[in-house]
Amino acid sequence: MLTRLREDIACIRERDPAARSGFEVLTCYPGLHALLLHRWAHRFWGLGWRWLGRFTSHLARFLTGIEIHPGATIGRRVFIDHGMGVVVGETAEIGDDCTIYQGVTLGGTSLAKGAKRHPTLGRGVIVGANSQVLGGFTVGDGARVGSGAVVVKPVPPGATAVGNPARIIVADAEAAREAAAARMGFSAYGVSQGDDPVSQAMKGLIDNAAGHEHQIALLWAAIEKLSARARELPAADCVPQDAHTTESFDAERLNRLVK
Ligand SMILES: CC(C)(COP(=O)(O)OP(=O)(O)OC[C@H]1O[C@@H](n2cnc3c(N)ncnc32)[C@H](O)[C@@H]1OP(=O)(O)O)[C@@H](O)C(=O)NCCC(=O)NCCS
Repeated sequence: MLTRLREDIACIRERDPAARSGFEVLTCYPGLHALLLHRWAHRFWGLGWRWLGRFTSHLARFLTGIEIHPGATIGRRVFIDHGMGVVVGETAEIGDDCTIYQGVTLGGTSLAKGAKRHPTLGRGVIVGANSQVLGGFTVGDGARVGSGAVVVKPVPPGATAVGNPARIIVADAEAAREAAAARMGFSAYGVSQGDDPVSQAMKGLIDNAAGHEHQIALLWAAIEKLSARARELPAADCVPQDAHTTESFDAERLNRLVK
């Protein structure tokens, strides 16, 4: 139990730059208190002491503003930051290392008793402030839900979902960038993904390099077509209609990134 508590405190100190000491985390973090009480509530629920489970959960809500149904399954090193207004439904599952901000609902849309009505969060999922994840689907490992999003469909691992209804914004771009970076011999994930302008510039350069690569492939295809037709037709008819490329180098964009 003490190991688990140490682990909880350590994960909060890692993920919250405002946390200054273990003592501060232990005494002033409602997310930690809610999880500690939830462990008791979940135990009571599992033993069939349903009222005691619900009452412990109610007490936790009263003290922390975080409502976790005693039936919900929560992994290790989960961090509920600030926490006020968080609601976690009965059949929700939260994987290890997830981070959940204030106002999040892991809720259901169906009234079917006993069915899986609430979402499952994979490992390392981040759920932004005031977002609503509604339904019995899975949010994949490492996915991120933007603040204020309303998610009603599964989110693939590593993807970012934003808006209402939520749409996936970066999964495809990231996958293409990683593939291009791998071909060039290094990993795009080696650079930080935050607001660091250098990493943003690197992302831009990789995207442009990938664009160039595609452009060259189009040119090769056009040349091959051209030489095939040149063998059959008079010179004037040799240029194929689709020989032009569709992408262009956006120098302005690169300049904006490195400014
Ligand atoms: C969704 C999130 C994880 C994306 O972070 P990111 O990968 O750095 O994404 P960017 O900031 O580069 O934004 C990418 C695009 O998504 C948009 N976007 C980012 N967050 C959004 C959100 N919450 N809702 C709608 N659109 C959002 C941006 O405007 C941008 O759009 P554009 O490409 O058309 O300009 C982040 O914005 C977020 O919401 N995190 C939650 C933080 C939180 O709740 N903090 C609470 C602290 S108390």
